[in-house]
Amino acid sequence: ASEAAEKDLVIIGGGVAGYVAAIKAGQSGLSVACIEKRGMLGGTCLNVGCIPSKSLLNNSHLYHQILHDTKQRGIEVGEVKLNLEQMMKAKETSVSGLTKGIEFLFKKNNVEYIKGTGAFADEHTINVNLIDGGETSVKAKNIIIATGSEATPFPGMTIDEEKIITSTGAIALKQVPKKMVVIGGGIIGLEMGSVWSRLGAEVTVVEFLGQIGGPGMDAEIAKQAQKLLGKQGMKFKLNTKVKSGEESGEAFKINVEAAKGGKEEAIDADVVLVAIGRRPYTAGLGLENIGIETDDKGRLVIDQEYRTKLPHIRVIGDCTFGPMLAHKAEEEAVAAVEFITKNYGHVNYGAIPSVMYTHPEVAWVGQNEQEVKASGVKYKVGTFPFSANSRAKTNLDTEGMVKFIADAETDRILGIHIIGPNAGEMIAEGTLALEYGASTEDVGRTSHAHPTLSEAFKEAAMATYGKAIHY
Ligand code: FAD
Ligand code: NAI
Repeated sequence: ASEAAEKDLVIIGGGVAGYVAAIKAGQSGLSVACIEKRGMLGGTCLNVGCIPSKSLLNNSHLYHQILHDTKQRGIEVGEVKLNLEQMMKAKETSVSGLTKGIEFLFKKNNVEYIKGTGAFADEHTINVNLIDGGETSVKAKNIIIATGSEATPFPGMTIDEEKIITSTGAIALKQVPKKMVVIGGGIIGLEMGSVWSRLGAEVTVVEFLGQIGGPGMDAEIAKQAQKLLGKQGMKFKLNTKVKSGEESGEAFKINVEAAKGGKEEAIDADVVLVAIGRRPYTAGLGLENIGIETDDKGRLVIDQEYRTKLPHIRVIGDCTFGPMLAHKAEEEAVAAVEFITKNYGHVNYGAIPSVMYTHPEVAWVGQNEQEVKASGVKYKVGTFPFSANSRAKTNLDTEGMVKFIADAETDRILGIHIIGPNAGEMIAEGTLALEYGASTEDVGRTSHAHPTLSEAFKEAAMATYGKAIHY
């Protein structure tokens, strides 16, 4: 083992949380090292999450559109063929470009990159099992744990990432399955289900609850999303629980029954995607050596300044509380480093957007209607359909709507929900509005360029405090 050197900050995990904290620390003049065991920076998001899934979503959408939506646009195409191997290569090119970009940013900001698995030896020392062999150890004044999350397994089903897969297998299948069963109708189930459905698989989503979309999605929007994804060919079994899976030859039989008990049936599948949520990952960190424990959901417990009970050890990203989202991890990374360097930091957990990158996209920020209703606050709702928006009509892409929920007395925006083309980009304006405590009238009286989809956003705001012009 080499001699231990002391750093101002050592970060365990080079995912979005860890690498952003490392860059921010380097920029702030701290001596900093980041330990990552994957051999690549960027964590789940860049390597097997956000980025590869969005590459496949984009290109499978293009393929699907060329197959089904060109004639009315005056484009006649010849034979259209899928080259899955090339589609996967395109995905790998985006991933490797971005992960290498972070290595460059580490160098630029004087971050030491240690490739290996880190474990606590004591409260200030981390031993690292190096990827290239051997060991080293680093001492640190401050430590940030950013070890992320992993897919929650389904009891009784052994993941092989070829036939019984998590999202990691779902971004790397070598051929299009004939029949795919997706367990869990949350964000991963719907995004990855969309990809394989567009490429030709018969996809059935089995969801325990009565609504798709996972936690947070507005019920009215979720209903529309289900209708539109259904039109594209996906099948849904809601209020249904998976009891077991059994192999039958090359394929599987997935036995399901009504969530409240009763009717049973078996669904055939040659690939089963398990997408029932993710759980914090802290295995092998040596937490027992420093007396830090996780809660009943496996999360590391922290205070408002991201500190564990050992105040120089902080935790950010998927392995602690809050939504498991890359941009949430990024906000926490900046705030945690600011707490170290300046004693203050800020994340507004009430204004973190969510986006589902299906077609159409679904995006939201703030509270959904179920939540506002339950809170007892008097509220009003305004909506505007894309079918009445000039740009959506021009683009022949008119499905969906924008929905505002505002306080009935003050007009302050409580939540914004969009289903439609480019919803994921449009929600940025909603997030800014919420962050600055805007009213729907503030948005409705702001000029939006014509003809753009964002006019639907403005008109939905107008419909909340008064009337929309075009509907
Ligand atoms: P991670 O990205 O999981 O990074 C943790 C890193 O720590 C890993 O690289 C791991 O190897 C490393 N590590 C763990 N233990 C050790 C150790 N002991 N020593 C050294 N290194 C260690 N979020 C979005 O906002 N938008 C999306 O579109 C989106 N799409 C997704 C799609 C999929 C299929 C999945 C699975 C997730 C998606 N997410 C998305 C969620 C997003 O990926 C996570 O919220 C984000 O990666 C969390 O960052 P993190 O740094 O906390 O954890
Ligand atoms: P999720 O929490 O979004 O959805 C899981 C779904 O599975 C829920 O609807 C739940 O009711 C259902 N479920 C749970 N147990 C079940 C069972 N036994 N049978 C049937 N249904 C069951 O989790 P998911 O989709 O696995 O994604 C994990 C996380 O990854 C997300 O919460 C999100 O934080 C992140 N992610 C974000 C993306 C984005 O921002 N676009 C994309 C992909 C993932």
